[in-house]
Order: sequence, then C-alpha cells, then structure tokens
Amino acid sequence: MILVTGGTGLIGSHLLYHLVNSGQQVRSIYRTKDSLQKVAKVFGYYADQPTPLMDKIEWVEGDITDIGELTQAFEGIDLVYHCAALISFDPKDFKKLEKINVEGTANIVNLCLKFGIQKLCYVSSIAAIGPSVKGKVANEENDWNETNASVYGLTKYNAELEVWRGSQEGLSVVIVNPGVVIGPGFWKSGSGSFFTYAAKGKKHFIPSGTGFVTVDDVVKAMVTVMESAIRSERFILVDQNWTYEQLFQKIAPKLGVAPPTKKLSYLSLEVFWRLDWLRSTLFGKRRRLSKATAKGLYHQEIYDNSKLKDALGFKYGDLEATLGFCCSKFRD
Ligand SMILES: NC(=O)c1ccc[n+]([C@@H]2O[C@H](COP(=O)([O-])OP(=O)(O)OC[C@H]3O[C@@H](n4cnc5c(N)ncnc54)[C@H](OP(=O)(O)O)[C@@H]3O)[C@@H](O)[C@H]2O)c1
Repeated sequence: MILVTGGTGLIGSHLLYHLVNSGQQVRSIYRTKDSLQKVAKVFGYYADQPTPLMDKIEWVEGDITDIGELTQAFEGIDLVYHCAALISFDPKDFKKLEKINVEGTANIVNLCLKFGIQKLCYVSSIAAIGPSVKGKVANEENDWNETNASVYGLTKYNAELEVWRGSQEGLSVVIVNPGVVIGPGFWKSGSGSFFTYAAKGKKHFIPSGTGFVTVDDVVKAMVTVMESAIRSERFILVDQNWTYEQLFQKIAPKLGVAPPTKKLSYLSLEVFWRLDWLRSTLFGKRRRLSKATAKGLYHQEIYDNSKLKDALGFKYGDLEATLGFCCSKFRD
C-alpha cells in the first residue's frame, strides 16, 4: 500500500487521482474534513463521478508533526510519497516552517526507517537548489548557500538533509525539486494566484522569472522515479524557464484580458518590501514581499532539466495546454 502526505494539496491531490486511477491501494493523511472538499473538486476536473474515486482512498486523519497519528498511518505501508509542507515566504512563519517542513520530514523519515518502507519520494523544490555561479545554469549539483535564501527555501533544504540522513541510515530515497507547479484548483496560493492576478486585468508584472512545470508532469516524474531502480538522487522538475512577463502573456489572452505591460522597477520593489515590512510590524499583517523574495527577483535562475531526461528518458507534456486547461477551470 502507498502512503501520500499532503494529499489535500495541489500536487498530492493530483498524485492521488493518478494512483487510484491506476488501481493502486492508497492511504492519504488529511488534517480537516474541509480539506477533503479540495480533493473532490480536483477529482471533479477530470472525472464525472469523483466520489467513488475518493472512496477508494483510505483517509487517515493526521498531522506530520504528530508522531502518534503518523505512526498509525504507516501500518501496512510499502511506499511513501511525502508532499505535505507549509509554503510561506513570510519570515514571521519561520518557526512554523521549521516545525512542519523540517521536523515533519524528520518524522516521516524516522517512521519510514522504523516500518522498513521500500522507498520514499520527497517533494522538495527549486527553492532548495543553491544559487548558480554567474552565467551558469542551475543544476542538482549547485552548492547550497543560505545568504539570500527565503525562509521557505531554507526549510526545504534542511528537510532534504533529513532525507539524506535517512538514506545514510539505509532508506531508499528519491527527491524531486519542482519549479512553480501549474495546475488547477488552488487559486489563492502558489501558481493559482497568477491566474487570479491576471484575471483582474492588472497592469504590472514583476521582473525576472523562474522555472515552470505542470502538475501532471510532477506526478508523472514522481511515479517514474519511484518505479525505477534509482535511489539517493535528486531531480529538478522544470519544463520551461520563463520570465513572469512571458507567463502573463500566455495566461491573460486565455482569460480574455490584456496582459500586464508595465515591469515593476527594482526601485519600487525595494520601496515595497520595506513598506510591507513596516505594515507587517505595525499591524501584524502577513508579508506579501519579503526582502529575500525581492532580492531574488534581481536575477533569473535558469534551471537545467536534463538529469531526469538523461536518466529515464523523461518527456515533459504540454505546459501551454495545461495553462489553457487551468484558465478554462478558473473561468468556470
Ligand atoms: N506548488 C508549487 O508551485 C510547488 C513548487 C515546488 C515544490 N512544491 C512542494 O510540493 C509539495 C506540495 O505542494 P502543493 O503545491 O501541493 O502545496 P499545497 O497545495 O499548499 O498543499 C500542502 C499540503 O500539505 C498539507 N500539510 C501542511 N501542513 C501539514 C501538516 N502539519 N501535517 C499534515 N499535512 C500538512 C496540507 O494539508 P491541508 O490541506 O490540511 O492544509 C496540504 O495537503 C510541498 O512540499 C511544496 O513545498 C510546491
């Protein structure tokens, strides 16, 4: 049986859909009943009858920071996909990020060892890939450097260290490092907020860019590396390196609006993160732009995706078609 953590999130719900459809026995942890509605909504994008598919999953209530609950979820499990994490770039969330991303991953690794799990797939991020030397592309071998890392990147990197520790202790592991994941259903967070932003017909876009990948490709890559003999490797999952301007130029027409045309200047970013800090400090508001995120926009990292292609002949799908699918679901 397969255990999925984070099954109520963007990647986890798509992974669950793939696994149940391919006839696998699956258990997933969830934290609240409400979050199951998110999974049903995602399943409804692809299936006329999501409920029978949802019922095929064995749902176990649990939090990855609660070892007691997690232990129950591990009974009878062979393979683990660990997708659960907190995604936040707000420095105020650092303690929570450490607790969920690092300590939670350590718990998963320890239970994998305890229960003799055959293989663990950990979903990390390109945020845990170290910066490139000027003029070079980023690959899996980049040295880590925390100087300009976001609080999120720092905890995803430290979570990877827990996975490598498990590998040293005899656990079979693979790590995937996706870029920004494009998929439908979570419109207020992650890539979903790009659709929400573009649909408002906003005028400005942020400079720079990053690596993008569809949620289907992330799921396909995870399953492919888990089914392979590969272990103790990490793989960048990026289909296209685009600027944010390019991304909005692709999304906006599909939403029937004009794309933003005005690039935010670096000066305005510098002013904005400081004002954002002040607003957060005075009124306790969530940060919308941290210093680290603003500094990260000065340089676009270009991600090399050849390792997975070379190792397993992996072929990426159609990112533009997925953008079109997301836009149609967003409009619905
Ligand atoms: N989305 C991206 O662009 C992207 C890019 C690169 C890497 N990643 C990584 O991919 C993984 C999945 O991301 P996603 O986009 O699917 O995120 P998401 O939509 O925010 O989902 C996060 C999932 O983690 C669960 N979770 C959070 N804290 C938990 C805890 N303490 N115990 C148990 N479950 C907990 C959430 O449960 P609730 O529903 O209860 O909140 C949810 O199921 C994460 O590890 C993330 O770092 C994502």
